[in-house]
Amino acid sequence: MNVRISIASAPHAVYAARICELINESAKQRGTGIASRTPEYIAQKIRDGKAVIAIDVGVNEVVGFSYIETWGHGKFVANSGLIVSPDYRHIGLAYKIKKKIFNLSRQKFPQARIFGITTGLAVMKMNSSLGYVPVTFSELTADEEFWNGCKGCRNYDILQRNSYRMCLCIGMLYDPKKHQSFYQRLIDLVRRHNLRAQRLRFRWWMRNRRRKGRVENY
Ligand SMILES: CC(C)(COP(=O)(O)OP(=O)(O)OC[C@H]1O[C@@H](n2cnc3c(N)ncnc32)[C@H](O)[C@@H]1OP(=O)(O)O)[C@@H](O)C(=O)NCCC(=O)NCCS
Repeated sequence: MNVRISIASAPHAVYAARICELINESAKQRGTGIASRTPEYIAQKIRDGKAVIAIDVGVNEVVGFSYIETWGHGKFVANSGLIVSPDYRHIGLAYKIKKKIFNLSRQKFPQARIFGITTGLAVMKMNSSLGYVPVTFSELTADEEFWNGCKGCRNYDILQRNSYRMCLCIGMLYDPKKHQSFYQRLIDLVRRHNLRAQRLRFRWWMRNRRRKGRVENY
């Protein structure tokens, strides 16, 4: 087993069909519905550099995957489609993929809130370790397209009955504002302070100019 985890790029698009197979097979086994994605959709995510892929280079097979989706005009990001091939489970692969896709999301969309909905304990554990917290659905994106993805789930009627406010899945959210380092907060403060100082200096300059104008006219 020689697994290499990397940010996906165009040559990895050949694995798109196999990734869809892995996702669909696991959904069937778990008896859950999923937001079904076509190989073309997955291939596009790969070409856009919005995915992380794990390849067993010994046998040249894809053994793990996850991709980034954006919602609500980029205000929200979800790391979707996490899958690890059955023979490669319980060795920490999902955790590594999840960490990499999370870091990629932070890098590409630093202001976005990262969220997910799940019933899976494994995903809950991984999300918690990355700083996600459980939230009600009202804290998540209101983007209809995201919630349309739930239509394939056998619990969709529960979601509908509860007016999209709750279901069997738990909502989890990472809010970047709550995780700013001391250094980042300091930079923000200085920036805000500088802007305020600049505004005050500008007002003072304008007032002086007007005063000067009045004196000259007089
Ligand atoms: C869920 C899945 C991605 C986990 O992959 P994995 O490589 O076996 O996970 P890891 O070995 O990295 O384990 C990560 C954590 O989850 C836990 N975990 C893994 N599988 C678990 C399971 N079936 N039930 C409960 N916890 C589990 C591990 O113990 C570990 O927690 P720890 O760090 O506290 O020990 C994999 O089982 C899978 O592909 N399942 C089908 C698809 C799926 O459910 N995707 C998630 C969609 S929301």
